[in-house]
Amino acid sequence: MPLVPMRQVLDEAARGGYGVGAFNVNNLEQIQAIMEAARATKSPVIIQASRGARKYANDRFLYHLMLAASEIYPEIPVVMHLDHGNSFETCKSAIEMGFTSVMIDGSLMEDGKTPSTFEYNADLTRRVVEYAHARGVTVEGEIGVLGGIEDGHGAGGSGLEHLTDPEQAAQFVEKTGVDALAIAIGTSHGAYKFTRKPDGAVLRMDRLIEIHRRLPKVHLVMHGSSSVPKDLQDIINAYGGKLKPTWGVPVEEIQLGIKNGVRKVNVDTDSRLAITGAIRKVFAESPEKFDPRDYLKPAREAMQKVVEARMTAFGQAGHAGDYQPMTLAQMAEQYSGALVR
Ligand code: 13P
Repeated sequence: MPLVPMRQVLDEAARGGYGVGAFNVNNLEQIQAIMEAARATKSPVIIQASRGARKYANDRFLYHLMLAASEIYPEIPVVMHLDHGNSFETCKSAIEMGFTSVMIDGSLMEDGKTPSTFEYNADLTRRVVEYAHARGVTVEGEIGVLGGIEDGHGAGGSGLEHLTDPEQAAQFVEKTGVDALAIAIGTSHGAYKFTRKPDGAVLRMDRLIEIHRRLPKVHLVMHGSSSVPKDLQDIINAYGGKLKPTWGVPVEEIQLGIKNGVRKVNVDTDSRLAITGAIRKVFAESPEKFDPRDYLKPAREAMQKVVEARMTAFGQAGHAGDYQPMTLAQMAEQYSGALVR
């Protein structure tokens, strides 16, 4: 099965009333973990690479690994998505490489740190949408600014400083024609999201519900959606790690989001925690081992377990065979008829 445009996967998710996990990758083992989880749960899936990942692995490696995934798992619709593109050029290069979906994060300036203006964001996003849609590629935009920093990208802070304004979100969608909209509701990237179990004061689900009410047809994206489970933190700390106590986004809150228009759920940190815990355990328990497979195999299995649990919780499980994947050319034709929303 060829790589699939994300718009189709999100439209189908909206039709079925479920969310789709978007899992970050940097290497072979992470792609394998996600694909095995998708096969085990019969899930369509979004695999995403940040600028940092593209630099770490080299684009061509990532692209060919993804092609291999689509050949080896022909029954699974797979989207290859760019996470947090910082400029038109970054998105263009991803599209040229074969990504079927890109995020342009114009909420920040090109430095990936400084919050931008609404006009800058809308203009840049509109340009990317024009370029991408002509090629059948999906575009995710962002309005409001997320907290934290991921791979050097982010404004820092708690994520409450620049919450998404529902009226601005409506104007942004109207001006840009984006397929999916990332919103800021108090979540942030990384392990340290909340200092206690989040309540409505710090995780603003009320804001998400308001945005959905204002824009019922728009596919919303929840970034910073790792749950940072205590058991994964404990494994790391039991084997010499030094994580400080922390809380992520509870799965029930994500499920509430999915009931209110969230179709794409971004998860990276939970995979990182699972991998690190598994590797630390092997190093601590079997210090005589030195074959990378001895620790990368348990790491891959640990990530698969957490990804399977998320796929099941988000509701995408069982939906891999629901539809015939569209090609980018078919998608481009749909966009040119402007009948997509
Ligand atoms: P987490 O750090 O919560 O996994 O968020 C990942 C993310 O939003 C990627 O864009």
